[in-house]
Amino acid sequence: MASAESNRVTFPSNLERLVHYTTVKRGNVTEHMLTSQEAIEAIKLGQAVPNGTHVVLVDYRDGKVFRYFVMEKREGWGVDYEPSRRTGDWQFQHFKADKTINMSENTARCQSCHQGREDNQYLYTFNDIKRAK
Ligand code: HEC
Repeated sequence: MASAESNRVTFPSNLERLVHYTTVKRGNVTEHMLTSQEAIEAIKLGQAVPNGTHVVLVDYRDGKVFRYFVMEKREGWGVDYEPSRRTGDWQFQHFKADKTINMSENTARCQSCHQGREDNQYLYTFNDIKRAK
């Protein structure tokens, strides 16, 4: 079976209004992490991030956008997947630099790795959000 797939994640229409809360650098890769002010406030208060939240990893290579990794959470989205694959109500998508879906990505891979962060709302940079202004 082909691993490529679309799902319910949409490219965030409000990308410019999201807050850039941390940066991760590795070699020629620079990752800017963005989410909404509402999601940041919720995490600081120890609450679940609101439904409708996007978290975006903008992956820059040599200063240019290379791709976007997007997580989006909406009520009931978890049931689209088998329980063993589920990451709460989050779904994941890989968008190319032109903001179209990369259909050669298998987003089960995203979920498999992020499942390890279940205790932190499936977010690796959870503690960076807590520390964000
Ligand atoms: C092998 C493990 C692994 C896989 C696979 C993976 N991620 Fe992540 N992801 C991470 C780590 C670790 C970070 C923290 C930033 C870093 O170290 O680069 C992260 C960060 C993120 C973030 C920023 C929010 C956060 O959790 O910190 C988003 C959004 C994201 N990943 C989306 C995706 C998407 C979409 C895919 C699949 C296309 C994916 N990830 C695949 C490990 C993974």
